[in-house]
Amino acid sequence: MQYPKLFSIAAICTVAASAVFISVLGAAAPAKPKPLSSYDPQVKAVLAKMTLEEKVGQMTQPDQEALKDESDIESLFLGSVLSGGSSDPKEGNSLEAWTNLYDKYQKRALKTRLAIPLIYGVDALHGHNNVIGAVVFPQNIGLGCTRNPALVEKIARVTAEEVRATGIQWTFAPCVTVPQDIRWGRTYEGFSDDPKVVKELGEAAVRGLQGPDLSNPLSLLACAKHYIGDGGTTFGTGMAGKSPLDQGDTRVDEPTLRRLHLQGYLTTIAAGAGTVMPSYSSWNGVKCSASKQLMTDILKGELGFQGFIISDYNAIDQITPDYKKAIEISINAGMDMVMVTERYREYVKDLKELVKEGRVPMSRIDDAVTRILRVKFAMGLMDKNRSQLADRNLHKTFGSAEHRMVARDAVRQSLVLLKNEKKTLPLKKTVARIHIAGKNADDIGNQCGGWTIDWQGKSGNITTGGTTIRAAIQAAVAKGTQVTYSADGSGAQGATVGVVVIGEKPYAEMMGDRKTLALDAADVAAVKNMKAAGIPVVVVLLSGRPLIINDVLAQADAFVAAWLPGTEGQGVSDVLFGDYKPTGKLAFAWPRSDEQLPLGTATTADVLFKNGFGLKY
Ligand code: GLC
Repeated sequence: MQYPKLFSIAAICTVAASAVFISVLGAAAPAKPKPLSSYDPQVKAVLAKMTLEEKVGQMTQPDQEALKDESDIESLFLGSVLSGGSSDPKEGNSLEAWTNLYDKYQKRALKTRLAIPLIYGVDALHGHNNVIGAVVFPQNIGLGCTRNPALVEKIARVTAEEVRATGIQWTFAPCVTVPQDIRWGRTYEGFSDDPKVVKELGEAAVRGLQGPDLSNPLSLLACAKHYIGDGGTTFGTGMAGKSPLDQGDTRVDEPTLRRLHLQGYLTTIAAGAGTVMPSYSSWNGVKCSASKQLMTDILKGELGFQGFIISDYNAIDQITPDYKKAIEISINAGMDMVMVTERYREYVKDLKELVKEGRVPMSRIDDAVTRILRVKFAMGLMDKNRSQLADRNLHKTFGSAEHRMVARDAVRQSLVLLKNEKKTLPLKKTVARIHIAGKNADDIGNQCGGWTIDWQGKSGNITTGGTTIRAAIQAAVAKGTQVTYSADGSGAQGATVGVVVIGEKPYAEMMGDRKTLALDAADVAAVKNMKAAGIPVVVVLLSGRPLIINDVLAQADAFVAAWLPGTEGQGVSDVLFGDYKPTGKLAFAWPRSDEQLPLGTATTADVLFKNGFGLKY
């Protein structure tokens, strides 16, 4: 038959041609964002009308739960409000309640003389992770293992849509830290210990969050953080008495600081990131939030950053006990907006006095407000013909199956196969019985980690719509296959194969700092009990960093690092059953022992697994 042959040749040519066309388009560098300074004419016109009170108000960001009176938004002309890690609506944690919260505060701001809208910020780090029902994506450490910027951009796009569904327009992400010591509690917020991976994925995140045009109602303002060297602190210099690493001192020379820790800022700023957040930590003894060299000379001067700098949560309090002096130092060093959380009334009073006393020049205030208004113009917030309230049509796709599919794909691509003896994996869906064990096998909270629903995250059934690994395995197997479970691995005798899901419980920031990275006793026991049943043992590790796994690795027939995958546990079972063949590559080197730490970047130590390691089926 002539026709099908001809047809198929024509079809192949068409597909090939369009593939070439798309690939050329795709390869074309993303359009450069419109420079924020292009809004300066409109900004200047507004600035000229503003009183000192109105200017200082724009530079002030309280936490919504700390507002002593909602009318403070009007009387103090507040320019921004945030919800910190656990700062939920009083009415409860739901999509509706969050959207009402945003609208309530925005309506207050729109009543002021100049009606400059609020910009509302949250930590949407792996989805709109504050809100029950949101899709929760893998934490950055897992995304680093995908080495897939297009996927990271897609995740950021979905995150932006779910955050805008609540009206909120700003996330304090991406974190472009380059963790050098995995004992740090924020390791999982980093894509990698390799700045090359961080700079590429950080840029992709900004492109996804902000989109090609910040004025699009689905765009979410990004914040590159924590500037600079947050992940490079020296062990033992952390918060006095609280943690060995977090908020400590990064003791490196300038070339090393630039080579290791500046790379993510080069790419995120080039991608148009509208805000940058200085780190709590110090560089050679100088607090980043107090450093004119870092914030003004390098970030704004040398790198030409045109957006605004937002402090970390009460970070300026750490500069000096004299709060008014701390404000003077930080604002004069280049801080533009301060996340004052509770003491916002004191901050407003002090900053106005500092200007009147000539200790903070009006030119510095005008520069800060110019930068803030540039971003608000760029986002369409100053467009009087546009509603600044939430678009509740977006509620339709919030937590949708389509969004969950993006997360499930991300989970698949984030898993790293570290061991697979005797082709234990992939598992068959038709075996007689699979016995599941481990404290992390059936726990959405442990799957998500910190910064989920609560600041520190929490074990247990913390959100709706997700799937635990145990439920995913149950859903995947054939009708005749029995799936049994015991947390401690008991009762595994007679099963065809055992799957033990172990690892860490949720933590965030300094609460996650560790002196040693040993597995907990319950995990070691669960693997031991499963092994004692004399069946093949698959270990799945849910953790925010590499842990010391030598003994458990030796007992396992197969071992998968799954990091903190989030709500979509099917992504793990897809890999276990071979519906997706593992492609993940470690984004951090994996130590053999605590004594090898800190490994740092491109370590020469005899590690258990090198950065980049990953087996395939
Ligand atoms: C926290 C974190 C920062 C976060 C901010 C607001 O302390 O250091 O990453 O964006 O406060 O929650």
